[in-house]
Amino acid sequence: MDVLDLERRAADRLPPHVYDYFRAGAGPDSVERSVDAWARFLHRPRVLRGAGGTDTATAVLGTPVASPVLVAPMAQQVAADPLGERATGRATAGFGSLLGVSTNTAVPFDDVSATGAPWWFQVYLFRDRAIPEQLVDRAVAAGARALILTVDITGLHHPSPEATYSVDPMEWPLSPEAERLTNLDPDVRERARGEGGWFDRSLGLDAIGWLRERSGLPIVVKGVVRGDDARRVVDAGADAVLVSTHGARAFATSVPSAYALREVAEAVGDEVEVYVDSGLRSGIDVATAIALGARAAFVGRPVMWGLATGGERGVRAVLDALHGELVTAMDLLGAPALADLTPDLVVPA
Ligand SMILES: Cc1cc2nc3c(=O)[nH]c(=O)nc-3n(C[C@H](O)[C@H](O)[C@H](O)COP(=O)(O)O)c2cc1C
Repeated sequence: MDVLDLERRAADRLPPHVYDYFRAGAGPDSVERSVDAWARFLHRPRVLRGAGGTDTATAVLGTPVASPVLVAPMAQQVAADPLGERATGRATAGFGSLLGVSTNTAVPFDDVSATGAPWWFQVYLFRDRAIPEQLVDRAVAAGARALILTVDITGLHHPSPEATYSVDPMEWPLSPEAERLTNLDPDVRERARGEGGWFDRSLGLDAIGWLRERSGLPIVVKGVVRGDDARRVVDAGADAVLVSTHGARAFATSVPSAYALREVAEAVGDEVEVYVDSGLRSGIDVATAIALGARAAFVGRPVMWGLATGGERGVRAVLDALHGELVTAMDLLGAPALADLTPDLVVPA
């Protein structure tokens, strides 16, 4: 799959400020760096191992998935297609995988569940806890199977002076359909307009236990790029760690996920599941990620470009293409099952 071509087609279709919001990184080269880092690994294929067939089935926090290619939580998908996560979810369900749903979705949780895809709710802890409390309670009631606590940004990021979008969709919605925090009651949503809607910058490890207690769901901590932090969050009770740079949207010169993954995987061993996202653009990247210690990989922008160019079918085509490339890579690497994708298959370029 040519993701760059898909992105060009999405850029042709989307209003410029929407495309700009989707593609933006924290700095001018951040996204490119996060993508290029995956190509900095080469492979040592095994041959003549006598294994036929390829099995990509796995489970993430107990949910079976046909492929380790998962869909990352992304805000404001209705600006790519008016159906938003209704389309992304249906494609994900048909593909046999799992969907992350952003705090900042404009789609009601029940509509997400109706797609049939298993989903995890992504949480930001705002200063006014009534906001995440109501969102979490409703996500649980609607059938979310885990929570993804995003910890790598401490505020809405500041777009570059040339940016053609506002980071605050409350002030300037990306599209007529794009409404922020749709799953809140209007009075609670109103509280999000003021300081209460700012990120809680004093967040510490106790947030993990608090969320677990509130929801009764497993907690995935998203945005870890260091082995010592991975250990701390696991010791604090996290059920899984997602190595992520927020698609290079958080800190302009953060180490790319591709370089951080091995350190995190080694720090937590087999204690919890480790996932990765940011910059993956092919099934070979997914194979590399799993060899470096990820149980599964989330994909962000390629899915958004699929949604913008072809709705549900566009998303499905992206997932199918990534999966097909993964199967071919496993075949050529002599890795018939995901467990056969081991670190010895990968060397730095
Ligand atoms: C347009 C857009 C919106 C996003 N919104 C959120 C969000 O609301 N919450 C979150 O935790 N991550 C968000 N992310 C980050 C993704 O979950 C994921 O980490 C990232 O997209 C993966 O990198 P990739 O786009 O290079 O695949 C967003 C990413 C994009 C591109």
